[in-house]
Amino acid sequence: MDPTGDIPAPDTARPDTARRKAGEPGVPEEATAPVGIRVRPGGPLHGELEIGGAKNSVLKLLAATTLAEGRFTLRRVPRIADVTTMTELLESFGCRTSFSDRDVLHVHVPERLEPHASYDLVSRMRASIAVLGPLLARCGEAMVALPGGDDFGSRPIDMHLSALERLGVDVEVSHGYVHARADVLKGEEVSLAWPSVGATENIMMAATAAEGRTVIDNAAREPEIADLAAFLNRMGAEVLGAGSPTITINGGGPLAPVDHTPVPDRIETAVFLAAVGIAGGEITLRGAQPGHLRMLCDKLGEMNLRTSTIKGGMWAMAPHRLRATEIVTLPYPGVATDYQPLLVAMLSLAEGVGLVTENVFANRFRYVGELIRMGADIRVEGRCAIVRGREHLSGAPVRATDIRAGAALVVAGLGAEGETTVRDIHHISRGHEDLVAKLKSLGADVAWVPGT
Ligand code: UD1
Repeated sequence: MDPTGDIPAPDTARPDTARRKAGEPGVPEEATAPVGIRVRPGGPLHGELEIGGAKNSVLKLLAATTLAEGRFTLRRVPRIADVTTMTELLESFGCRTSFSDRDVLHVHVPERLEPHASYDLVSRMRASIAVLGPLLARCGEAMVALPGGDDFGSRPIDMHLSALERLGVDVEVSHGYVHARADVLKGEEVSLAWPSVGATENIMMAATAAEGRTVIDNAAREPEIADLAAFLNRMGAEVLGAGSPTITINGGGPLAPVDHTPVPDRIETAVFLAAVGIAGGEITLRGAQPGHLRMLCDKLGEMNLRTSTIKGGMWAMAPHRLRATEIVTLPYPGVATDYQPLLVAMLSLAEGVGLVTENVFANRFRYVGELIRMGADIRVEGRCAIVRGREHLSGAPVRATDIRAGAALVVAGLGAEGETTVRDIHHISRGHEDLVAKLKSLGADVAWVPGT
């Protein structure tokens, strides 16, 4: 049963493809799938909790396992639906996956893979496109469904494809699939027009099998990129400069399976910082890596939320009331676009007028209508949101529109008078492990809403 009481936490797998069985770690004995999360303002938060491994790292590390035959082990893996989707994708290639503990995932990669990523799985999760580079490296060919658009825009993959073409890959897009083939991958210089996280990852992974040297210029610098490079290097690859704008990969060497612990989830960390900012109080986030959230912490400091690095994690203390500020989202080390809904929720309750400019995704304010239903005063003009802070929001039924917006609506509910119910929580289950249990452990008044 859910350790927090109430009703059972949802199985994070989609019901139609549920792979985790009742009684497994984190899965209730008798699952009554909840349909929402109910939040009430319950006073300041106090206590400490453990931050899990980064979703955006784990998914790419799982894709990278296809680069070598044998048994991989990943630790601190969050039990979220996107991880389930990625393991299903790996199994569709012929791999076997299993958890040996709550958060230790093993992947057995066979000698021969079936390099075909179906639309059914790719359409569930855009990060599936991360298998393209490693499958090409391992099999010399791949057929991967086009991910299409999603909740915050069209999200093309043109940079992934043109970079792979430079490495000698024949790419054909037809009938909704990318058909890619390369008899020999060749190291090349690749200049990205924008430091795309996904494109950088696909090139890095493909280049591990390329003859000679690949240089990625204007590469993404996110901590998850450095984590993937560390993983590849541990496997025997030679990836230099990850975390800087220029990454060099000396390809062609043999790769072998490894045991790896991914970086902590900086976005999950931000969720609890936003929660304490809104509810008030003082919390400790064990395992968090404040060095990965530096710009965010600077902005939170401007909002009067105090954070500091402590041994093994970070500490945060909220002011009586947050103060408004201006925020611009940018590629790392800038303030991440994934924090943006959390920041807008915080500004909705801050003193003064906040301005948020979204530079990464064209259409990432869709959830704002839900915050407005909770009484927030927000005007969106193009890529900007003008947020006039209110002393309180008012609890309302709302719908999660994507993973991060869903979490932002839950934490907004901590600052709303009355009751907020967030529906469409399958979005939240895709990326946030035990959100209800973790908030409850800090004293928040939050619970799953049972299905009927
Ligand atoms: C990843 C993260 C996502 C995060 C984002 C930005 C995962 C699963 N997702 O997404 O949570 O919000 O980084 O930090 O790790 N673009 C193109 N053409 C391309 C590729 C990207 O135009 O070929 C554009 C996108 O539409 C977007 C921008 O570049 O406007 C950034 O995208 P990118 O960094 O690639 O994000 P993702 O890897 O999709």
